[in-house]
Amino acid sequence: MSDSGLASMPLYTHVDRIARGLAARGIGPDDPIPPEMLFALDQWHYHGTAAICDAGRFLGLGPDSRVLDIGSGIGGPARFLAHTTGCRVTALELQPELHRIALDLTRRSGLADRVTHLCGDALVLSLPSGSFDAVISFLAILHIADRPALVRRIADVLRPGGRCYIEDLCRRAPFAPADLRDLRGVVHGVTVTGIDDNVRDLGQAGLVEVVATDLTDDWAPHAAQRLEACRSDRASLIDTQGEEAWAAQELFRATIDRLYRSGALGGVRLTARRP
Ligand SMILES: C[S@@+](CC[C@H](N)C(=O)[O-])C[C@H]1O[C@@H](n2cnc3c(N)ncnc32)[C@H](O)[C@@H]1O
Repeated sequence: MSDSGLASMPLYTHVDRIARGLAARGIGPDDPIPPEMLFALDQWHYHGTAAICDAGRFLGLGPDSRVLDIGSGIGGPARFLAHTTGCRVTALELQPELHRIALDLTRRSGLADRVTHLCGDALVLSLPSGSFDAVISFLAILHIADRPALVRRIADVLRPGGRCYIEDLCRRAPFAPADLRDLRGVVHGVTVTGIDDNVRDLGQAGLVEVVATDLTDDWAPHAAQRLEACRSDRASLIDTQGEEAWAAQELFRATIDRLYRSGALGGVRLTARRP
């Protein structure tokens, strides 16, 4: 998918909120950044660094591990794994603006020797076969139109025995027409399917030990809390991020919350191994 429509998704607009958030913590545009200071600002998935910690533990990552992060955003998960486990991460992001911010944050947090950023489409960019011990992807595959092709690429880049760890949105029931419009128009969810379809794609790509965990009962209340916090902290958020940035966040969080409440939207974790 081109990034032209995606860049207008409310989560991906007003990305100067990261610089503004750092400024509010006394960090100027060219200052070094202690990695710990970033983690409240750079994780664009559920449960922040706790979720990435779980992934690192499951994958058994350490200083010798080579990890590919698909849809790496501004690089939060990649930096956290590199910082906490010493692994090397290749962080692949479609949107040039997010890639540019990611590069800058990684350099300033002193992690450029362990995190490499690539800008491109995960369906297209050339990646060496069998060269990663692990592939992670958090809340990105929903944006990617051809999931079977993407999963075949994941299987190809993993070394034999390597594993993937994916968290993504899924469909628990058919979306009503208005909800489908919001899913496409606000969330840019182009591939949001039933859990069984996810499992089938991983199996058809030749991956084994495919395990799917339905996370909806955990994510739906979390999404509701995030919306509530966004509304109750309105004044201070506007103070640091600006009014438009707050409005974009509120729109995104309210839409997601409504989609969960409809019973159609869900969340899933998928793990698998290349034989
Ligand atoms: C919700 S963000 C999550 C970012 C990061 N995984 C995190 O958890 O902080 C999803 C990211 O996937 C990226 N993305 C979408 N389609 C992509 C593609 N075809 N190739 C690479 N990245 C893609 C988006 O641009 C976006 O930055």
